[in-house]
Amino acid sequence: MNDRKTNIYIQGIGSYVPPKSVSNQDLSKKVDTSDEWIFSHTGIKNRHIASAEDSTSDLAVNAVNSLLEKCGLDKKAVGGIIVATATGDYPGFPSTACVIQDKLALDGIMAFDVAAGCTGFIYALNIAESLMAGSSLDNVLVIGAEKLSAVTDWSDRNTCVLFGDGAGVALLSRRDDDYSCFVDSVLHARGSGFDKLMIPSGGTKDKHGEARNLYMDGRAVYTFAVRVVKDVIIELLERNNLTLDQIDWIVPHQANMRIIQAAAKRLGIDESKFFMNIGQYANTSAASIPIALNEMIENNLLERGMTIITVGFGAGLTYGGNVIRW
Ligand code: ACO
Repeated sequence: MNDRKTNIYIQGIGSYVPPKSVSNQDLSKKVDTSDEWIFSHTGIKNRHIASAEDSTSDLAVNAVNSLLEKCGLDKKAVGGIIVATATGDYPGFPSTACVIQDKLALDGIMAFDVAAGCTGFIYALNIAESLMAGSSLDNVLVIGAEKLSAVTDWSDRNTCVLFGDGAGVALLSRRDDDYSCFVDSVLHARGSGFDKLMIPSGGTKDKHGEARNLYMDGRAVYTFAVRVVKDVIIELLERNNLTLDQIDWIVPHQANMRIIQAAAKRLGIDESKFFMNIGQYANTSAASIPIALNEMIENNLLERGMTIITVGFGAGLTYGGNVIRW
């Protein structure tokens, strides 16, 4: 294995989803769709939607508070906040990390956002680990948080059935021994496809009157996703002289069950190797992997010593993955 020996590990995971749950049946009363179509095309049954008052930073703060309580860590021990999001509280600045920092009353520490779409949490994990390895930072919060409902066109059946709101967070800490949790990471992007998945408004390219809702070329993203999920997994295995038999779980970005099934087929493995909870939460973008990890822990599916692969893809078009020895 490509052991990096950075003695940084994931001490704990927390997550939060808003209480309001919206089923496929609920949506079928608003747009011309059905539970049968949504489930058969995506694997989604349900999604959680934040209230109008709650922003992305509120979802994140709830996830952080539950994590700190679980880990028994005083928030003053946190040395940095890195937030992966595509739906920050504000379109430009301040970063959502700084807003979260304010809500947690943690002035003085490092805080910044990572803009890598749905691959954001994977990018942010690698950035946090590298920063910690090269500094004296002992505890860093790596957050994936999204309020996608705020950028969803609720009259467009092509997209409104796909997304949900939520937040997840990992606490990266330094260990006293030389146990390395992060075995390897690969981060990629294909900028030539940037216009396949975007929120066109709010930036300096914005023209008066442009829609603020998420735009997606679903077919193009689907084809891209199936290919890169397979490619990233193979790249990580080859770089680390690992075989799929040595991987306990693959934890993919939860965008569409069919993408996972197609990637599993191309890899020649059973889809049960992939953890999936898209049925309950839909696609929560950068939050989907930490929400999945938290659910795995709560269901005793993840034990220390297991080897897992996270793999993600999304706007950018970005893609990548991590090999983690849990
Ligand atoms: N209910 C009923 N019919 C629908 C719905 C709906 N909710 N949505 C689309 N349709 C219709 C279309 O209008 C189309 O009808 P038509 O043939 O009369 O024009 C028909 O269903 C088929 O549409 P397709 O686009 O071919 O459906 P497809 O099987 O490709 O599934 C989907 C669409 C689910 C969006 C798929 O392309 C996909 O999953 N793409 C990838 C999406 C993704 O992963 N995005 C996120 C990645 S990044 C991130 O997470 C932010």
